[in-house]
Amino acid sequence: MRAALDALEPYKVKSNKGFIRLDNNESFLNVVSQLSLNDLQRDFEINRYPSDAVEGLIQAYSQYIGFPASNILAGNGSDEWISLICQLAINPGDPIFVVDPDFSMYEKNALIMGANVYRVALNGDFSLPIDQLIADILKIKPKCLFLSNPNNPTGSFYSRGEIQSLTQAMKEIHGYLILDEAYIEFAGNSYCEFVLRNEHVIVLRTASKALGMAGLRLGFLLANDRIIENISRIKPPYNVNQLSAVLGARVLSRQDLIRESLIQQKEQIADLKSILEAFVNVNEKIILYPSQTNFFLVEMDQAKELYDFLYSKHIKIRYFGSGRLKNAIRISIGTKVEMAKLRQSLNEWSQM
Ligand SMILES: Cc1ncc(COP(=O)(O)O)c(C=O)c1O
Repeated sequence: MRAALDALEPYKVKSNKGFIRLDNNESFLNVVSQLSLNDLQRDFEINRYPSDAVEGLIQAYSQYIGFPASNILAGNGSDEWISLICQLAINPGDPIFVVDPDFSMYEKNALIMGANVYRVALNGDFSLPIDQLIADILKIKPKCLFLSNPNNPTGSFYSRGEIQSLTQAMKEIHGYLILDEAYIEFAGNSYCEFVLRNEHVIVLRTASKALGMAGLRLGFLLANDRIIENISRIKPPYNVNQLSAVLGARVLSRQDLIRESLIQQKEQIADLKSILEAFVNVNEKIILYPSQTNFFLVEMDQAKELYDFLYSKHIKIRYFGSGRLKNAIRISIGTKVEMAKLRQSLNEWSQM
């Protein structure tokens, strides 16, 4: 094994049987179950490698977001794009910037390529230290700056002006700016138009969150022609399977279902917010951070104890337990029944 991999922890996917799952920021709605799939066999040439099916998926995604199909590639989750961007951009020892906290896969994939990863700490309220960040970019000249926007796990959303300034700074040093818009449907304002005006900006999108298709593993890369051409040199030719491509395209062509599911998810976000606000009101020294996503970050001294307590009630949330998030938990939305169970369990905790 290469020495660069020594520091990486194996990713262990755990069983969720019997648990209310509020730990992965997924949708609680299964949109595929609302489709009529009786004629599905017609679209399935399982004996052939997928090609037209993936083209159909890209066309459907292009229509859904109103972005040119020739500037979109589909992948096996946006995780695959993060890995491929690192393979495209990074030589061993190259400096890479991530902000802290942010989605851990950026750092992991950069380390796999032997990068020298700089973690730029967000401000206390999780806003960007924009002036310092720009000064550091100009000084250290990172090959890539990765940002999830809205941020996972903080839930905060950076302004257009901040992203414009970072675009300019990364342009000056000839680095890539990767904006990961995994949760953009909950925040509203995509910055994907930056891609067409800036040769070095990449936007990532996913079908795993608001679109409710995490099990299909569909992620999208939006970039200008040159990046599309370059990343196509290293992309596995058939990285999206036939079943996912066909089902994904069918869901995307049902804008009515997507709109309705987003309304339901937004209702549940409001519900979760009110549950957590009530929890914060009756307990001391708990911070609930504002969120533009389908999850909330909560900081409290007894984060681990609360995580264990909810786990004992068969509710899984995310506990971080290190660094800036030493005392932080993240809770995603669930169904009305699941939220009622969460409310009841949090009330029990508050009364102990
Ligand atoms: C910010 C962010 N980007 C990417 C992903 C991965 O998405 P996908 O399921 O498309 O690989 C996640 C999943 O949690 C995420 O939070």
